[in-house]
Amino acid sequence: MTKASGVSQEEVSAHIGNVLRSEINKNADYDLEEWIQARVHISQGEMVMDVGCGNGKQVAVFSDLVGSTGKVIGADIFSQVPGLLDKAREKLADKANIELLDHSASVPFPQSDHTFDVITSCYSIYYVDDIRASLREFKRLLKSGGRCFLVGPAWDNSREFYDLNRDITKQELPKNFSERLWRINNEVIPAAYEIFHRVEVSPFVNRVFFEGDHGVKAVEEYFRASLLFQEDSEQHDAREQFAKEFVKRVKMEIEKNGRYIIYKRAIGLTLYKENE
Ligand SMILES: C[S@@+](CC[C@H](N)C(=O)[O-])C[C@H]1O[C@@H](n2cnc3c(N)ncnc32)[C@H](O)[C@@H]1O
Repeated sequence: MTKASGVSQEEVSAHIGNVLRSEINKNADYDLEEWIQARVHISQGEMVMDVGCGNGKQVAVFSDLVGSTGKVIGADIFSQVPGLLDKAREKLADKANIELLDHSASVPFPQSDHTFDVITSCYSIYYVDDIRASLREFKRLLKSGGRCFLVGPAWDNSREFYDLNRDITKQELPKNFSERLWRINNEVIPAAYEIFHRVEVSPFVNRVFFEGDHGVKAVEEYFRASLLFQEDSEQHDAREQFAKEFVKRVKMEIEKNGRYIIYKRAIGLTLYKENE
């Protein structure tokens, strides 16, 4: 087991946000996992590793794709995010071809060279310390002819959601938050072209719909789980006011237009390691 340098509130938030995202994405234009599969083409018998697997949402789908002759390893910093391993075990309880690995993608993996056909990392790669080092490590782990698929938020992901927050709070996004939104463009794409033989870039816009009272409640949960709402911040009372105002505005929009929409904008990268 490998330990990274200590879990941050952001990682815990990311995990909670991730679980909620899984829920709200049920009312979206696209299914994220189908979109991923159309780009990475996982097939029966393959060896796959999903890095930053969270509660195992993608691992569950990949497990079915590789079947009983394949295997999927789900890696995450499990020992640092309370309850995450239990959630993943619960979600993957009926899968025999999976393994959960407590490991940070910021440090080298224990597996030998040329182990995997596919390595994926969904909404996780921008948490690592050194993107170049992690991508080099993924390439080392891939078989010749293997592929890596990374997906993360585009710089304008959920822009309208954050703009509404700014309008209410008169505050910009936390600095490290907006830096992370730029990390795919500024760091991951250049590093991918530098390290891999071939790169395909796929933009993705997924509208997520919120309707009725249930929709208002879901947006509130999403807002409270996001880094915009930090329960332990010194501005606790102000934050509660912001949350109330946020919910009020969403409610008004649903009453007026029948729905509130969050535009999830992502960038997917398929990276190919050619035969060597
Ligand atoms: C936003 S969640 C995405 C989870 C899942 N892939 C999904 O899309 O539903 C980000 C995940 O990255 C994990 N993570 C953060 N830092 C990591 C690191 N250094 N190594 C591996 N995983 C990490 C978090 O614990 C969290 O589960």
